[in-house]
Amino acid sequence: MSKLIEFDEKQQVFHLHNQNISYLFSVEKGGTLSHLYFGKRVRSYHGGLTYPKLDRGFSGNLPGDLDRTFSRDTLPKEYSGAGEMDFHSPATIVRQANGSNAVFLHYAGYEIAPGKPKLPGLPAAYVENADEAETLTVKLIDDLTGLEYDLLYTIYRDRDVIARSVKVANKGKESVHLEKVASMQMDLVGQDLEAITLPGAHVNERHPQRSRLVQGRHVFESRRGTSSHQMNPFVALVDPKTDEFAGDAWGLALVYSGNHEFELEKDQLNQLHITVGINEYNFSWKLNPGDSFQTPEALLVYSASGLNGMSQTFHSLILDRVMRSKFKKAPRPILVNNWEATYFDFTEDKLKEIVDEAKELGIEMFVLDDGWFGHRDDDYSSLGDWQVFAKKFPQGLKHFADYVHGQGLKFGLWFEPEMISYDSDLYRTHPDYLMQVPGRKPSPARNQYLLDLGRKEVRDNIFDQMTKILDGGSIDYIKWDMNRHLSDIYESDLPADQQGEVYHRYVLGLYDLFERLVDRYPDILLEGCSGGGGRFDIGMAYYCPQIWASDNSDAIARLVIQYGTSLVYPQSMMTSHVSVSPNEQNGRITPFDTRAAVAMCGDLGYELDLTKMSDEDKAAVKKQVADYKQIRELTQYGKFYTLKAPLDSNEAAWMTVSDDRNEAIVTTVEIMSYAQPYLTKTKLAGLDPDKDYEDLATGQVYGGDELMNLGFYDPTQPRKDFTAKMYHFKAVDQH
Ligand code: GLA
Repeated sequence: MSKLIEFDEKQQVFHLHNQNISYLFSVEKGGTLSHLYFGKRVRSYHGGLTYPKLDRGFSGNLPGDLDRTFSRDTLPKEYSGAGEMDFHSPATIVRQANGSNAVFLHYAGYEIAPGKPKLPGLPAAYVENADEAETLTVKLIDDLTGLEYDLLYTIYRDRDVIARSVKVANKGKESVHLEKVASMQMDLVGQDLEAITLPGAHVNERHPQRSRLVQGRHVFESRRGTSSHQMNPFVALVDPKTDEFAGDAWGLALVYSGNHEFELEKDQLNQLHITVGINEYNFSWKLNPGDSFQTPEALLVYSASGLNGMSQTFHSLILDRVMRSKFKKAPRPILVNNWEATYFDFTEDKLKEIVDEAKELGIEMFVLDDGWFGHRDDDYSSLGDWQVFAKKFPQGLKHFADYVHGQGLKFGLWFEPEMISYDSDLYRTHPDYLMQVPGRKPSPARNQYLLDLGRKEVRDNIFDQMTKILDGGSIDYIKWDMNRHLSDIYESDLPADQQGEVYHRYVLGLYDLFERLVDRYPDILLEGCSGGGGRFDIGMAYYCPQIWASDNSDAIARLVIQYGTSLVYPQSMMTSHVSVSPNEQNGRITPFDTRAAVAMCGDLGYELDLTKMSDEDKAAVKKQVADYKQIRELTQYGKFYTLKAPLDSNEAAWMTVSDDRNEAIVTTVEIMSYAQPYLTKTKLAGLDPDKDYEDLATGQVYGGDELMNLGFYDPTQPRKDFTAKMYHFKAVDQH
């Protein structure tokens, strides 16, 4: 096996490389690490990027060294401490007993090992065998405090990604407070890049935004305690010319479900200083002598083939080496969920009618959403009481689950384990489980409050309650929801000088609960949810192979949401449902087949009252379900290409292609209809240019090169808004 990581002793340069990418950094004067390069693979490095030595005014020098041409301020950074003659945002800030926050990190050696270590308590990308990756650990030391920073870099042999994280160990004699520990830092010089971020809102998640970076510090972050609807933990840096198919793209994502911070600082020299990690807002981690702290992992992807190349690298990494679930490559069941069908207002009999209808239509799973527990008839009560609501299920939940199974469907159940209602037995028995600041009234959101998940006792209580429902073996799937963000940050078990740990402890507590759940119930399919896609991140992907992409189920609104999501996350991770028209979130009226075509971009489901549908619509559902079963392996797991991004555009188009390039599904959507339409074309991607492909609907055969270079005209009929069309192509010698 060829080596993936080398250290050139003479030049003091680390080179991580595989067939496609190289990552280079050097050790400079004063043991300073300096970033050199991350991009297309180079065979070897001969010093071309030696940083020019210039005396820059007001960028001072190393302590005890009068060389005015060497400054940590201007040198491209790899990992910097506060107070070390560097005026950029530091990677780490440490408050010490004497009040100082400075550390002066210097290089103290390295190790290279096969494989990739697990990160204690945190989700991370993994390896299945040690040959597939190598890990470099570079040690930086601060002499005064005795802090040791292990910078971890993993490079995979066959993936264009570097995984970075940091472990800080206190080898000194005094306790310190870590006020910031970034997972990665990197400076890019002489490249005028744009940033693509994924901001959003509830029912409006992950709307890509592309911006020029001007001088100053740009921060893309969440302070909501979760990865959030408002800013996904991801940034892509792209050349201004980069598009879906061509150009450089660097994708940075954090494997973390809490407060994150992506800092892009364009400095006085137009150098771009990048720092990614846990948000420093209200973060202060006490590190006693002998203790260590592990940061979450940052994933750095490089693509020379535009955004599709970047997304495909993320998709296959997340599917193959982040998700642990046995369902990660399994056909995802077509489900019907009763939320938009009934909301809280249901009886067992009503649900049975939906189940019966689902069976008729070929649907494979029934999901019982909110309202089945405690005495929950609205959102004022019962969170924290995970016992079945006897009024709705007089013979118990198992009785109903048996009915669902008897009809040949799987049975899924909704939980919101992180929450508590004032009106709950849990609150009446354990008022202290509710997260609140002593002496202050906590703020409600959706009439509910947070549990103090940092406390083991609280987690044990919730987990025990869940096991009582789950141990019966009747539950095939869980939808794990979270319907508010964190406020009133305080953990009653912690002393005053550790209250800055609460946000992170909450996330660690959440991961601990998930660990217990997946260990004990490996046969349950987990779906993540947070008011739709409010916690759609790679940390969650480690546990939940699928996540409800948005509470907005309108097909046209979903075009942008799903496009934004697909920049990082594989299509099988997005659940996407057909709901009623007019849509309940935005009132839009869309054709039924368009709703289905858009939902089939992810894992198809239905979120409506099947019993209230017309016979015509039922027949349509039956056909959609049958058709989807034929193509779902391809749509869920094929290589995904965005052909036309639905941003400032009247069209959207995407496709998935099988690994052997013998089969493809293409979906096009025309948003508004025009009386005098301009003609538009769709050109395909990822096919074999030398093969011929048949359009299975028409029998027409085209060359792969023809479909990719000439394309075809988009339909101009029917004349109505919001039309979609799906094409299924098969290589002609394959059937
Ligand atoms: C959230 C979810 C919905 C539904 C409701 C139930 O909003 O995103 O799908 O489960 O909660 O309260």
